[in-house]
Amino acid sequence: MARHLITSAIPYINGIKHLGNLVGSQLPADLYARYLRARGHEVLFLCATDEHGTPAELAAAKAGKPVAEYCAEMHAVQARIADGFRLSFDHFGRSSSPQNRALTQSFAVALAKAGLIREVTEKQMYSVADARFLPDRYIEGTCPNCGFDSARGDQCDNCTKQLDPTDLINPRSVISGSTDLELRETKHLYLRQSALKDELAAWIDSKSDWPILTTSIAKKWLNDGDGLQDRGITRDLHWGVPAQFEGAPWTGMEGKVFYVWFDAPIEYIACAQEWVDAGKGDDWERWWRTDKGADDVTYTQFMGKDNVPFHTLSFPATILGSNEPWKLVDYIKSFNYLNYDGGQFSTSRGRGVFMDQALEILPPDYWRWWLLSHAPETSDAEFTWENFQASVNKDLADVLGNFVSRITKFCRAKFGETVPDGGVWGEQELTLVNALATRLAAYETLMADKEVRKAAGELRAIWVLGNEYLQSAAPWTTIKTDTDRAAMQTRLGLNLIRFYAVLSQPFIPDAAAELLTAMRAEGAPWPEDAGVALAALAPGHGFAVPEVTFAKIADEQREDWQTRFAGLRG
Ligand code: MF3
Ligand code: ZN
Repeated sequence: MARHLITSAIPYINGIKHLGNLVGSQLPADLYARYLRARGHEVLFLCATDEHGTPAELAAAKAGKPVAEYCAEMHAVQARIADGFRLSFDHFGRSSSPQNRALTQSFAVALAKAGLIREVTEKQMYSVADARFLPDRYIEGTCPNCGFDSARGDQCDNCTKQLDPTDLINPRSVISGSTDLELRETKHLYLRQSALKDELAAWIDSKSDWPILTTSIAKKWLNDGDGLQDRGITRDLHWGVPAQFEGAPWTGMEGKVFYVWFDAPIEYIACAQEWVDAGKGDDWERWWRTDKGADDVTYTQFMGKDNVPFHTLSFPATILGSNEPWKLVDYIKSFNYLNYDGGQFSTSRGRGVFMDQALEILPPDYWRWWLLSHAPETSDAEFTWENFQASVNKDLADVLGNFVSRITKFCRAKFGETVPDGGVWGEQELTLVNALATRLAAYETLMADKEVRKAAGELRAIWVLGNEYLQSAAPWTTIKTDTDRAAMQTRLGLNLIRFYAVLSQPFIPDAAAELLTAMRAEGAPWPEDAGVALAALAPGHGFAVPEVTFAKIADEQREDWQTRFAGLRG
């Protein structure tokens, strides 16, 4: 039994995430956590909401709510939806927690002690009417490049040119609309990441087992220079971790907070403290401090590719630079993008299917299965309603669902609702069991390797083997001439349901639980040996014919959803 720490990139607080976000971090992390727990390992699976920064402040203002209130509400919404998808976090924390505030400030102090913080005086836009400095996104104006009149201080959304606030023509404050802006001197803290470049490069080079997607992005940022420039870690915002605090080794940081990307990954650690403080665990340090036992922990992070630079460079720079014994990540699993019906999923434009909407139309297992079996690992993937309908109907309804219903109904009709006695395995059964044992081993390797799509393919192949067996053994024909043999075939079929439920649980937890309940085999362990597992339900063991486990998606439903989700969400 090993110890596994698993984190999913923490989703921004503003708004509900779409299916592309889900499949790029939380869902595969959940798959892995469920698998490792099923194998008997000790798992701590953490996620949280990423609550600081300009987007949160702006979204709260738009909703007409104080930002703290907005974040508390949205956290509850995201927690409920995560539950709806059966994401099995041990704790779903908040980056705005007091634990994260204290930890973020203590990291800043540690970095300062290590000589890695520079105080930099620079000129920045100040709004006289709002009596505050304006961060980039709080300034809009006309783009000097294309003439678009709502370009932001950091970028023009029309022509995508990266901008500085001072580039804008007729700049104005997003808060008040005031054009009474002036450049004033102000001080910020910079993290001297460049000093850690060699150490980071060596660390990344040592990770030969990481996915190419992860290392290629990391190396690109490392070598292009841009990625490891010293970066400002403070912002002129009210909402965030205050950069001036008791014991701070600097002065003059009043009214400033740490940059959201500085405190967000620190929440991975703070979240473990929140988990303990919520009474769910009793020791977070053994997961995070290498001087307190965390050396034995295997730490895996899951994220979309846009998050890779922050997890391969910035956060490790914070950890390494602190000179404190924190656990570094062992494996970074990253994902490409999932596209939606010929274009991109887009949160800002409301394009695609969002997590709450998905659950309104179908149970979580349908989504989990499709998303995981089409996870964008080696390239971007695309969601289309046709493909969704076809996969669900084929894999879940035809292959798995149909198998379950055929064998249980047959047994009920001919032998009653108990596992029938009689007969012994013949050559056909031994061949099946051998094939299953081989595929089981392959499935386990793929799951351990976090090869999500391939693991789904292997699981599907395991389901198919059972179907093929049932088709060719045909107990409904056998029974006409050989009752004992038909009983044995049926018994094996019923055992296959239990076997499938256990193996499928990481992908489709609700259906798996339903099947185990129907087979009166709740809590069935992971099979150590396929042959033994397939004889676990002995003659006389009672069961119930399960309800329809998976209903097919009809063409009318598909068309209806297609139309409903064709436009942009309001
Ligand atoms: N909120 C970010 C996003 O959704 C991810 C933050 S991950 C962490 O892209 F490292 F900062 F925690
Ligand atoms: Zn422009």
